[in-house]
Amino acid sequence: MMAEVRPAERVLFSPACERNKGPILAVLQDWLPPQARVLEIGSGSGQHASYFCQQRAGLLWQTSERPEALADLQAQLETVDPASLAPHSQLPAAIPLEVTCSEQWPRTIVDAVFSANTCHILPAAALPALCAGSARVLRPGGLLLLYGPFHDGGVHTAPSNAAFDDHLRSLDPAMGVRDALELQEQARGLGLEPMADVAMPAHNRLLVLERRP
Ligand SMILES: C[S@@+](CC[C@H](N)C(=O)[O-])C[C@H]1O[C@@H](n2cnc3c(N)ncnc32)[C@H](O)[C@@H]1O
Repeated sequence: MMAEVRPAERVLFSPACERNKGPILAVLQDWLPPQARVLEIGSGSGQHASYFCQQRAGLLWQTSERPEALADLQAQLETVDPASLAPHSQLPAAIPLEVTCSEQWPRTIVDAVFSANTCHILPAAALPALCAGSARVLRPGGLLLLYGPFHDGGVHTAPSNAAFDDHLRSLDPAMGVRDALELQEQARGLGLEPMADVAMPAHNRLLVLERRP
């Protein structure tokens, strides 16, 4: 699931993004309002951002990354031909955003915050920061959209997710597949109401939470 860095070109490429970008867009089409302004957390290779802006008109997709990963993301975004974007869609320069650093969250209010495959990379203690930061930048009724693998009360939804969880924890005990129920409960306490839990290919899920008015 991690993006590869191709050293010669210094360009990131994630095969997983190529597989999941279509199914994710299909769900976003159901939930995003027209002319949506979206903040993405942990944009990685920028493949989701560029694909969504190429496929959907009227989308303003603000990518972001940890400061140390920002240059690689920006280099990738600069390979996107602006003429390939759908009408009235915009893909501005990436911004630095470390989720646990509240000063780095933008002041701009958005319709949605999107993040793919970050919850199992972030330490569990950083998830409340992700929810609280999202609640601050979302307009009332705006959506936090979290894509990735999750388990329910410690019960994995597939053996492959259990194996992935073990793999992550062997790399770094702070990483690991997160509990959807726990995350939804934390989010509720921070002003975000769980709205949907959409089953996605390869035992992933897309959690939808709404910023309460
Ligand atoms: C597995 S990659 C997913 C990248 C991309 N969203 C995707 O789906 O391919 C996890 C991403 O989270 C970012 N990340 C990790 N810790 C972060 C933090 N504390 N704040 C913001 N982003 C973080 C990493 O830099 C990386 O790009």
